[in-house]
Amino acid sequence: MFDPSDFITESIEEIKRKIGDKKAIIALSGGVDSSVASVLTSRAIGNQLLAVFVDHGLLREGEANYVQKTFENRLNFVSVDAKDEFLGRLEGVEDPEEKRKIIGEVFIRVFERIAEEEGAEFLVQGTIAPDWIESQGNIKSHHNVALPHGLVLKVVEPIRELYKDEVRLLGSEMGLPDEMISRQPYPGPGLAVRIAGKITPEKIEVCRKANAIVDEEVKKEGLDKTLWQYFAVLTDTKVTGVKGDIRDYGYLVVIRMVESLDAMTADVPELPWNMVKTISQRITAEISEVTHVALSVSDKPPSTIELA
Ligand code: XMP
Repeated sequence: MFDPSDFITESIEEIKRKIGDKKAIIALSGGVDSSVASVLTSRAIGNQLLAVFVDHGLLREGEANYVQKTFENRLNFVSVDAKDEFLGRLEGVEDPEEKRKIIGEVFIRVFERIAEEEGAEFLVQGTIAPDWIESQGNIKSHHNVALPHGLVLKVVEPIRELYKDEVRLLGSEMGLPDEMISRQPYPGPGLAVRIAGKITPEKIEVCRKANAIVDEEVKKEGLDKTLWQYFAVLTDTKVTGVKGDIRDYGYLVVIRMVESLDAMTADVPELPWNMVKTISQRITAEISEVTHVALSVSDKPPSTIELA
């Protein structure tokens, strides 16, 4: 039986032993794993850990503020506004895998810059058991990572033996808010994987607003406790609609809500029809660029959870 309090005591000793009086850095995304790893490590080495939150311009509505508010008093925390750098490199790019690659590269560049300025020798990561069990090849627990511009950091993974439910118990024990601990998984590249085709400031805004509406209505219905993920995708398809007696031509938005245990497979459950209709009505009414909302009913497999 997992005892979070024993785990905390033992990990603090272990982290202190590994990092000593050196500096460490962690990329804090605001997701459960990196949040718990950050707070745990900071309990061991305090301000020797710098937690870096990178705003790539593809975040959910209110996310940068939310993460800042949650962590600025708990951690040695910095929020980096790198929107221009990310969005500049993504301009005109349509292929989803290319988008992921660019975001990964820019992220590492921004992060390496800060690690260097900070004089960090250790990289703390919120890796959990399924991350390395599923990717097989990488089962080493002691390794270094060489960043592209030459900085070599020693990797520390304080929660690498834990599963998600244990990570949540640990977060709760350390006083992280329930809302943070039970958040739905959110892909690192953010809205980039939920916007089909070229990413433009207009499309980011449309996608962000649609996602905020889905989020609000799902929470109102209490389904955030049972759904694994719930989100809106902005397709690159424009369709005809009619708004206020005038024919309109706007975006098709797809909403997707799935149940899952580990994201390897996923099911679309029966959803309350009133909620689905409210989401559709709100998206078309509140976002003038959208004329049509569709509900995805495909399970994984054969579909993936994300559409891009
Ligand atoms: P798929 O779409 O492959 O997604 O069924 C499985 C899980 O992974 C998340 N996902 C990502 N997470 N970077 C991430 O950090 C990515 O590029 C990425 N693509 C998919 C997805 O949200 C789901 O939870």
